[in-house]
Amino acid sequence: MEGTSGRVMVLRLERFADLPKLPRSFKSLGTCNECIYWECPREFERGERNPALKVRWMSGVLREFGNCGFRAKVANRVVGSIQYAPPRLYGQRFEDYPSGPPSEDAVFISCLYIRDKAQRGQGIGSELLRTGVSDLEARGYDKIEAFPRISSDNNPSGPVSLYLKHGFRIVRQKDDFPLVRLE
Ligand SMILES: CC(C)(COP(=O)(O)OP(=O)(O)OC[C@H]1O[C@@H](n2cnc3c(N)ncnc32)[C@H](O)[C@@H]1OP(=O)(O)O)[C@@H](O)C(=O)NCCC(=O)NCCS
Repeated sequence: MEGTSGRVMVLRLERFADLPKLPRSFKSLGTCNECIYWECPREFERGERNPALKVRWMSGVLREFGNCGFRAKVANRVVGSIQYAPPRLYGQRFEDYPSGPPSEDAVFISCLYIRDKAQRGQGIGSELLRTGVSDLEARGYDKIEAFPRISSDNNPSGPVSLYLKHGFRIVRQKDDFPLVRLE
């Protein structure tokens, strides 16, 4: 499955190194292909930024679950991506989110990111989200959840407003990071 514009394509393991590099202000996270904030929280908190761990995580998810996201390319350069998987395949990060945990029968969107400010606001994030939702619906997953942020877009999965525009609703809100769900 691809996006409608030709700029959105499946997130393949062999293309994993192409994932967007995070800007300097997010240096603490590493690049998207080494950030293990969601996947291995304990190692992340110890300061590890480890592409090998992320590749191992993604290989397991591809085996157990299948496709886990898309990336967007503009002028032959990767500018953004979306990543998702069932909550059970992520680490223990959910306990840091008072509005959680996500439902076990839902697929969890952990990341939605457009790297360059100049590329934002042009519908690429929306296309990634729409393409991810269509992929999951086509595979029979009818519940999709995330922890977007109310006060800003500075958040792994972006701002709440984006999700509300795409039909998600807030199901639990204890702080700035409500649990939103599409079903
Ligand atoms: C959030 C993000 C994924 C959205 O992608 P995008 O391509 O810019 O979004 P779109 O053009 O598809 O916008 C769709 C909707 O999202 C919402 N939105 C986008 N940017 C927003 C922002 N900065 N604040 C609040 N809402 C925003 C709006 O509702 C917008 O609809 P509108 O244009 O009709 O107002 C992207 O802006 C981004 O990656 N921002 C940085 C996030 C970040 O700092 N992450 C931390 C790294 S881990």
